[in-house]
Amino acid sequence: MNSIRRYADPEALSRAAADLFCSTVRQAASEGRPAHLAVSGGSTPRRMFEMLSEGELRASTPWDWLQLCWVDERFVPPEDPASNYRMVRETLLEHVPLPATNIHRIPAELGTPEQVADVYQLELQAILPRVANGFPRFDLVFLGMGSDGHTGSLFPRSPALYEARRWVVANPVPSLPHPRITLTFPAIDHAAVIAFLVAGQDKAAMLKEVLTAPKDVILRPAQGVQPAAGKLLWMADAAALAELPPTP
Ligand code: 6PG
Repeated sequence: MNSIRRYADPEALSRAAADLFCSTVRQAASEGRPAHLAVSGGSTPRRMFEMLSEGELRASTPWDWLQLCWVDERFVPPEDPASNYRMVRETLLEHVPLPATNIHRIPAELGTPEQVADVYQLELQAILPRVANGFPRFDLVFLGMGSDGHTGSLFPRSPALYEARRWVVANPVPSLPHPRITLTFPAIDHAAVIAFLVAGQDKAAMLKEVLTAPKDVILRPAQGVQPAAGKLLWMADAAALAELPPTP
């Protein structure tokens, strides 16, 4: 089930995303089980993490019940400015009491991209619950979308788009400064909730294509995210939705 949620601006979008993050962890804790979340990098989620790092959201999130994973990583060490882990560390992890053992970053410094993908896949296989077909069931996966239609590190025309069995792969993207390591579509698609966070006028043209054009996963990888049984939320601000007809 897809749904589009429109927010006036990035601040309102970030607050709604932070509320979703917190409520997902609270719900799992109330059931006596950990919440398994995966987060993306980039700039859009920064404000969500900052909101979770302070005030009521920080106080009301049961951090001990959170198992935090990453959707993707650049092939750089954790202290590199390009590291998705570093961004989350600076905006969230340094400010909340999340136990180090609950932080499952992609260890991009530990070998080749392919070796890192193997290591990360083993780590996820050790902690994540699975659905009947053996793929992981995240409670919530936060995704972004590039203006080229990529999501995670699933880029147009890249080999990772074709992966149907592995949970994590290395993905060479010649146009980028670093190789990538990324969750695959099957690893994402079995989540209970998948939430795209999309903000800004520069995303408007691609968001319209992704939501209305015929499916072409090679050209528009974000269209390849197809929840197996869960919910798909498009959480976007008015600027990103500007090229779509206003929903009734
Ligand atoms: C990354 C992200 C990437 C991001 C999109 C959108 O490693 O860069 O995981 O997939 O979500 O590029 O990025 P913005 O939020 O900065 O627009």
